[in-house]
Amino acid sequence: MRDHMWTRRDWMKASLAAGAVSALPHWARAFDTTDSHINVTGSDSLRSHAEARGLLFGCAVDPALLDMDGMAAGTSTDPYTTLIATQANIVVAENSMKWGPLRPTPTTYDFAQADRLMRFAAIAGQRVRGHNLCWHEQLPSWFKTTATNDNASKLLTDHIQTVAGRYRGKIHSWDVVNEAVELKDGRADGLRNSPWLGLIGPEYIELAFKTAAETDPAAKLVYNDYGIELDTDDNAMKRGQVVMLVRRLKARNIPIHAVGLQSHLLASGAHAGEGLRKFIREMKAMGLEVYVTEMDVNTRGVEGGPDVQDQAVAQIYRDYLSLVLAEPNASVALTWGITDRHTWLNAGLGDWAKRPDGAQQRPLPFDADLQPTPAFVAARAAIDAARPLTQALSQKGQQLDPALMYQPFKVQGSPDAPKLSAAPGSPAASFVRPTQQ
Ligand code: XIL
Repeated sequence: MRDHMWTRRDWMKASLAAGAVSALPHWARAFDTTDSHINVTGSDSLRSHAEARGLLFGCAVDPALLDMDGMAAGTSTDPYTTLIATQANIVVAENSMKWGPLRPTPTTYDFAQADRLMRFAAIAGQRVRGHNLCWHEQLPSWFKTTATNDNASKLLTDHIQTVAGRYRGKIHSWDVVNEAVELKDGRADGLRNSPWLGLIGPEYIELAFKTAAETDPAAKLVYNDYGIELDTDDNAMKRGQVVMLVRRLKARNIPIHAVGLQSHLLASGAHAGEGLRKFIREMKAMGLEVYVTEMDVNTRGVEGGPDVQDQAVAQIYRDYLSLVLAEPNASVALTWGITDRHTWLNAGLGDWAKRPDGAQQRPLPFDADLQPTPAFVAARAAIDAARPLTQALSQKGQQLDPALMYQPFKVQGSPDAPKLSAAPGSPAASFVRPTQQ
């Protein structure tokens, strides 16, 4: 991995130039990384900035790409692995905890990849989000022919008991139900005509939440959805249905602790604003938190080269994260991947992800070479602005001491590489910070 040292730009001065992106000379842009010296490791990482402000910040991970041996030995130099370890204090499996990957047959489970992520996170001292226990997509191929009205409730509860049971006490939060609202399906309750709704009825949602609560009482239980972020009519209507869903669950004493905003945003078009702020406050009034669960920024509507894309993406990161993280019940944010090398937006999934010019999408804080993008600078600035620096530390009665802040997992050549405190791979393994060795 290339050394991440660049000269630091004056944030305030540069941000004045944020408006007309493509007309500006390179040096005047708001989120400059290319010729500036920004250290992204150690106390300059997203992880450290988040921790110093009491926030959880992280990303979705493909466990198959992780260098587990190097990680366990404390010697990994794999760029993807070290990036996840150093930048995130919370991770989520991009696919490995979904039904499809976990359930090769109706009677068997394959936990290999999910277990890898749990092991990795234990070594790296990270929290783990569980995604997800009930969704209409990525169901195993056998589901269609096996699930019936008679067995669907048992299929759902068995799955939740087995999966959430395996990781009981180790999961920060479970996306218990994913994407259950779809206005186009035309139901008065706003619910999607999903296989689960067809097989069980609308009660499948509370069945899932109740079962998750019984199985892992320590995990925060989340309803996760998309299309509820923006100040548009359709987003506002869907938000309204999500509010109604949460109210119905609360009225029936169903345990639900947070709503996840997937936050797959477009760099062009409508932005998030007052509607989302009101929604987050309404959730607070009901005692719920709000998490940003899957943030990335799609530039399919932005004309221009990589620099123009990067500036547009960075603006959204700064504006969106600033808006959400300003709310006291919003202190968790994850991006959907960490590097543009591995993003679903470049996986050829559909026209909604394709740029008309055929160029690659650049939706994440690190580019395809794993170098920080302007989105990194913007995300970190939004984290910095979200809470006073000393708040989290003074709450713990600590002095602000940079040596106490997170130090990176061993990066090649780094003199301050931390040692692991427990047997490699053991769940108890955690970092010993260099100052404590
Ligand atoms: C996506 C993954 O990123 C892809 O690799 C996979 O092919 C499809 O699913 N909303 C969600 C996520 O809740 O689980 C989806 O993840 C993206 C949209």
